[in-house]
Amino acid sequence: MTPKASTARADWSPASWRQKPALHIPADYPDPAKLAAVEAQLGNYPPLVFAGEARTLTQRLGEVAEGRAFLLQGGDCAESFKEFHPNNIRDTFRLILQMAVVLTFAGKKSVVKVGRIAGQFAKPRSAPTETIDGVTLPSYRGDNINGMEFTPEARTPDPQRLLQAYAQSAATLNLLRAFAQGGYASLDNIHRWMLGFVERSPTADRYKAMAARITDAMEFMESCGITPATTPALSQTDFYTSHEALLLGYEQAMTREDSTRPGEFYDTSAHMIWIGDRTRQPEGAHVEFCRGVRNPIGMKCGPSLAPDDMLKLIDILNPENIPGRLTLIARFGSDKVAEGLPKLVRAVQKEGRKVVWSSDPMHGNIEKTNSGYKTRPFERIVGEVKDFIDVVESEGAHAGGVHLEMTGQDVTECTGGAHQISAMDLQDRYHTHCDPRLNNEQALELAFLLAEKLATKRKS
Ligand code: PEP
Ligand code: CO
Repeated sequence: MTPKASTARADWSPASWRQKPALHIPADYPDPAKLAAVEAQLGNYPPLVFAGEARTLTQRLGEVAEGRAFLLQGGDCAESFKEFHPNNIRDTFRLILQMAVVLTFAGKKSVVKVGRIAGQFAKPRSAPTETIDGVTLPSYRGDNINGMEFTPEARTPDPQRLLQAYAQSAATLNLLRAFAQGGYASLDNIHRWMLGFVERSPTADRYKAMAARITDAMEFMESCGITPATTPALSQTDFYTSHEALLLGYEQAMTREDSTRPGEFYDTSAHMIWIGDRTRQPEGAHVEFCRGVRNPIGMKCGPSLAPDDMLKLIDILNPENIPGRLTLIARFGSDKVAEGLPKLVRAVQKEGRKVVWSSDPMHGNIEKTNSGYKTRPFERIVGEVKDFIDVVESEGAHAGGVHLEMTGQDVTECTGGAHQISAMDLQDRYHTHCDPRLNNEQALELAFLLAEKLATKRKS
């Protein structure tokens, strides 16, 4: 197959997805006219991100595709209206900064930071309905669609929720921009990022030791005249947002033509959007929408994806073979990745396609405990990432990044890690609105393990 010319988007419009089969989009809004009115209103609202920012992210991801940088993408499985609080935003941001410093310092890679945040609301669900004590109601689909409470009122899709999701995304992004540019992310704050972290733990100690070394290096640079005040690279950081482009009515409403480049459309709801494992049908609505917008696109690749279908999807989503345009996010499960991933990477290599390979070690590793909690064992998460790196590198490609569900808070949702969270401990602080997340300590521990693995690969 040869990449097609750039005319591939000629028959595309922000609404062309509506002619295609659309899975996981609710069809049961009681008043479709109200939904259309809300979507029209959103169409007149300010964009949340600019086209130029999305282009810069594509370039940065192009560096990842070529092995010169590493993608760190992470945040909540699902954001919620209830947990909307500046401290939660700060904690997620801080955790990503901490992990990025570990990967940069110990793994010697420039890190592209992308949050699953400021718009990650809508969820695909395994079943359209839920039954409790003989009562059946529509499943909870995310706060921008319906409510979690098990009542007919809460579970009815409500278009007003889209406006609330927009407002929450805008305020979240505003704070993230302030954190990234306004001094909080300055490297001379590296010790302060530990505030609120579990005080005594092997991971915390390791982080503090690393921070001390970085501070030493900074003192040396200061004596050479290089300080955060003179060098923006030390005092500011770039931070991007992303979410699953599931609810296409919202994504369409947020899509704008770039005034500086007529004919180019950007989904301004986030810098990067991705297609979920359940909605990546080549003829489906989600692929149709994503092929036409110029944002960097992610696509989840699970065990059911055949190499031929993958190549077809790459053709549709990245016909010009632009490095950084497409990130393939492998999510197999620790027991399947070594067997299932090589044929995908091999096919991409053989056809000369430029993609970013990233690992989502979360969605193939879900288990249910006897007491009914959904959890993910830390060892399985680590195992999948390590196998992913081995597979991708041994096929001659670059293991480019990770995609994680995590929180800066001290929750107990995934078992294992340095604090050995057991199935019995899960009930203590199990707060997620959807899937279990790594807590701050587990995520930081993973960053250290990943950095070590990347550093060994670099040397070998
Ligand atoms: C997710 O990322 O939250 C998700 C639903 O993943 P996947 O599409 O890979 O199952
Ligand atoms: Co999830």
